[in-house]
Amino acid sequence: MRLVDLLAVEEVPPGTMKMAWVDGADQVLVVNLAGDIRAFQGICSHEYFELDKGFLTRDSLTCALHLSRFDLETGEPLDPPAEVPIVRYPVIIEGGRVLIEVPEGPLPVNE
Ligand code: FES
Repeated sequence: MRLVDLLAVEEVPPGTMKMAWVDGADQVLVVNLAGDIRAFQGICSHEYFELDKGFLTRDSLTCALHLSRFDLETGEPLDPPAEVPIVRYPVIIEGGRVLIEVPEGPLPVNE
């Protein structure tokens, strides 16, 4: 496993989300749900579209392209057309930074 530093906690105030790049290749979406910071794959599992262009509601994220909502607990899609979950990465907060713990190699992503 490896720890990947995404961004500073203060860059993602409660109720907002922000995209971070990993290895210059993958995008990870950091979401702050009332102080609970979570991280998900940044690209929709339906088609190639950045999820930070979508909308946050209390416990779901809506992709702006075809309006599938994703559960921010499990990553599961709540509406069509998306059928597979977005990957949620384990978050560690350390020294005011948001880190994720992921396997060595390419970031796990569902497409
Ligand atoms: S690209 Fe996200 S729902 Fe289609």
